[in-house]
Amino acid sequence: MIETQTLSFPQRLKAATAEEHRRVERSGVMVTLLRGRIERVAYLALLRNLHAIYAALEPALLRHAASAVVGPVVMPELFRTEALERDLQTLHHDADPPAGALRPATAAYVARLHELDAKRPELLVAHAYVRYLGDLSGGQQLRRIVGQALGLAGAAGTRFYDFGDSARVSALALRFRAALEEVGARAHDADAIVAEAESAFGRHRQLFEQLAAAA
Ligand code: HEM
Repeated sequence: MIETQTLSFPQRLKAATAEEHRRVERSGVMVTLLRGRIERVAYLALLRNLHAIYAALEPALLRHAASAVVGPVVMPELFRTEALERDLQTLHHDADPPAGALRPATAAYVARLHELDAKRPELLVAHAYVRYLGDLSGGQQLRRIVGQALGLAGAAGTRFYDFGDSARVSALALRFRAALEEVGARAHDADAIVAEAESAFGRHRQLFEQLAAAA
């Protein structure tokens, strides 16, 4: 058993979500994605749902940028809403079927983010952790896989994963972990942030399963 008391806050987050991470990597549409078998329309559906999540998360983070607890993880250079919009434009074909509704897991995720924005802003840290450190980690492998699966050349269509070269990606991940250390030192209820991160992984798993079922 891991002795959580001796871990730093970013280490605690990682240890607490490790099992959920293993599950989410193997869930629903992630399986097709990792195998390099995702089709463009299914990938567009994934991006549309992720876009809704970032479009709720990022303005909420900005609204709490002056907070001692949330402030450290508000790093607009990580924000993905605009990159996702560009990928959606690049990958969309005029002849595509109508986009369809967002998946129920996305609607619930967005509702949760609005709730945290209004009532428990400190817990937004958990969602910044799950999304941005994920994008800076496994996201970097997915970039190559998606590019190959969809026959994309250059950055167009995979801007979502593009934070710059590998030195910049490492530097951003380092800064994000340092920001999490600050959060850990200041948070009123660090345990609640860890629990929210675990449930954020579960929400992603639900979304990926719903996307696979719809494809
Ligand atoms: C199928 C896809 C995925 C692959 C291949 C993958 C792979 C990885 C890898 C290799 C790392 C680095 C582990 C390390 O540094 O020790 C990582 C970290 C991470 N991933 Fe993923 N991942 C995937 C999906 C996801 C998803 C869907 C999420 C979020 C819901 C996510 C969230 C994270 C987070 C938060 C970290 C940072 C862990 C930490 O160091 O605290 N990953 N991932």
